[in-house]
Amino acid sequence: MITLCHLDDIEEGRAKGFEVGPKQLFAVKKDNQLHLYYNYCPHLGTPLEWLEDQFLDPDGAFIQCATHGALFVIENGECIQGPCRGKSLRAIPFVMGNGFMMVEEADIAGLGRI
Ligand code: FES
Repeated sequence: MITLCHLDDIEEGRAKGFEVGPKQLFAVKKDNQLHLYYNYCPHLGTPLEWLEDQFLDPDGAFIQCATHGALFVIENGECIQGPCRGKSLRAIPFVMGNGFMMVEEADIAGLGRI
């Protein structure tokens, strides 16, 4: 298991990026729940952010790809606007233990193109 962060490390309505080996992930905190995704836009396969830990639109209502502005639902990763509409971010399974977010190495190692 790899520990990514503590629940309190991310403010409500904010996001945080992680590097696990060569793979990039990011987590979003909404309604005190964490959501974890592969940082890989289903449009062109680029990372979603241009600035560190900036994964959301200005209102913090959706995940936003900085390259072409695609918007994704925070809770399920579905693209609802933009060039990859109808596709989804890859959700990464995780477990919470004592407030810490942890992932299985095997779930990260297998990530490739969407
Ligand atoms: S690369 Fe993300 S919307 Fe185009």
